[in-house]
Amino acid sequence: MGNSKQVSAAILISGNGTNLQAFIDAARDGSLDLRIAVVVSNRPDAYGLVRARDAGIATECVRNEDYPERAAFDTALADTLAKYAPGLLILAGFMRILTGRFVRRFEGKILNIHPALLPKFPGLNTHQRVIDAGETLHGSTVHFVTEDLDAGPRILQGRVPVLADDTASRLSARVQAVEHKIYPQAAALFASGRLEFKDGESWLDGARLDEPVQYAGEL
Ligand code: GRF
Repeated sequence: MGNSKQVSAAILISGNGTNLQAFIDAARDGSLDLRIAVVVSNRPDAYGLVRARDAGIATECVRNEDYPERAAFDTALADTLAKYAPGLLILAGFMRILTGRFVRRFEGKILNIHPALLPKFPGLNTHQRVIDAGETLHGSTVHFVTEDLDAGPRILQGRVPVLADDTASRLSARVQAVEHKIYPQAAALFASGRLEFKDGESWLDGARLDEPVQYAGEL
């Protein structure tokens, strides 16, 4: 695969990196025409860094402890990213809130995946909160990142049922399996130019997405 117009991406992580692995696998098997230029972590012990190195991808670490101030962290992160000139930033379990300045600098070029059916359940601990609320449906949402946390325009959602005897960890595993399908697909839509961020909204194939696309197999 690969061509001169291939989008190059930076993937930002803080932890295990199973979503990162899904990107690595999809780029490798050709279902995702995207070059992963670098994987950046804010934690040196993130297992995702091992996954990246095993795949021969450049890695960088911008440590939380070195930059307690959010603005200084984001400047260091932006400087690190600039070396790779990415056309897309993919937040994959990146557990640090980005400043408005950073988000504006990469406007329309940052994707995030949130483990809930946004706008329901923004924030942390979504799986337990979904169980506690007695929901019967849960899932994950890929969206563009804007300055409003977990509130940027939605792109693609994958749903899973909540089972009667679910625990947060069982439910999380089911959600993650869906994430590994929808996140590379959303990135593929962006990389092929079908998906755009315009006027603060998501656009697919030239039409504004009033509602996110619901995942039902291949797109
Ligand atoms: C994912 O469930 C994602 O929704 C959330 O963080 C988790 C990251 O998991 N933003 P992993 O590190 O990709 O395994």
